[in-house]
Amino acid sequence: MQALRKNIAEMARYIPGYQPEDGGWIKLNTNENPYPPSPQVVAAIQAELANGGENLRKYPDAGSREARRVAAELYAVDPAWVIMANGSDELLNNLIRAFAGEGEEIAYVHPSYSYYATLAEIQGAKIRTFGLDGDLRLADFPDRYTGKILFLTSPHAPLGFSFDNAYIEELARRCMGMLVVDEAYVDFADVSALELVKKYENLVVTRTLSKSYSLAGMRLGLAIARPEVVAALDKIRDHYHLDRLALVAAVAALQDQSYLETTVARVRETREWFAGELRQKGYRVEPSQTNFVFAVPADKDARRVYETLFERKILVRYFTDPLLAHGLRISIGTRQEMATVLAALAEIG
Ligand SMILES: Cc1ncc(COP(=O)(O)O)c(C=O)c1O
Repeated sequence: MQALRKNIAEMARYIPGYQPEDGGWIKLNTNENPYPPSPQVVAAIQAELANGGENLRKYPDAGSREARRVAAELYAVDPAWVIMANGSDELLNNLIRAFAGEGEEIAYVHPSYSYYATLAEIQGAKIRTFGLDGDLRLADFPDRYTGKILFLTSPHAPLGFSFDNAYIEELARRCMGMLVVDEAYVDFADVSALELVKKYENLVVTRTLSKSYSLAGMRLGLAIARPEVVAALDKIRDHYHLDRLALVAAVAALQDQSYLETTVARVRETREWFAGELRQKGYRVEPSQTNFVFAVPADKDARRVYETLFERKILVRYFTDPLLAHGLRISIGTRQEMATVLAALAEIG
């Protein structure tokens, strides 16, 4: 394998959250939505499969035009400002490919979504991380950051807070390269940086349909950015990156905003109730703008809690990273699932 690029040979694989093969789990480790997608999505997929799947014979629309139109209408921008993607991960990857050449630098907040680092390693880009200070600002962030991209996960994962827009604007001004605001969880939040895309040339917002739209299994994401950025991302993506079923699912999901509002409201309500119950049990729970909470047990022995829940077939996310190993990221499931978690925690003590 002498031909293998050195950085690929040396890099570690990204390990996504565990997906058990057997049934019977309460699965709260990858921030999936506990509710099914909109019935309109299922109907659209069924319609696309009509006549014995006749449509599948043909390539999908390489430009995702209908989905872009619907997304653009929803976000009140021109369709030239929108790109659809095979999960927002595809966009994060292509943003690095488009903006950061080999040896050039990208940065992200540590802790946050570590997949940025994996994607940068594949590209052979340099990686810089910025920690969080006590005010949840980026520690030691330069007045003029000259790296090619800063990835800002907002709402933050796994801590759950949102950066406020005044601070995001400040970062956009301090970044000489691109500022990518990864809004994977924003539909569960009170604030969004979307309006800033028009104000700052270097600002890109990425979104996913995996969480709030219950479509992790379809692999759908999108970005809102200036047309020049969208055009660059259009050049480097696979031309048929979204299949026909994903495209009709995207359109139906984005069009059914009342379904989204109902399920998001339920998740938010369960989140607040669950966080309150955990606090009563002595956990420290960060206020969350997402569909998960970061919960720290009183003795900070999160690993023990993780393992004991695992034995009861309740799956939550434990990170070995020393900055996070004192807590657990627990996705918000149905109220009944969360009640089962609370009952298990009461037994564990
Ligand atoms: C912060 C963040 N960004 C992006 C993603 C990827 O989302 P998608 O399923 O759209 O690829 C995730 C998924 O967990 C995430 O937590």
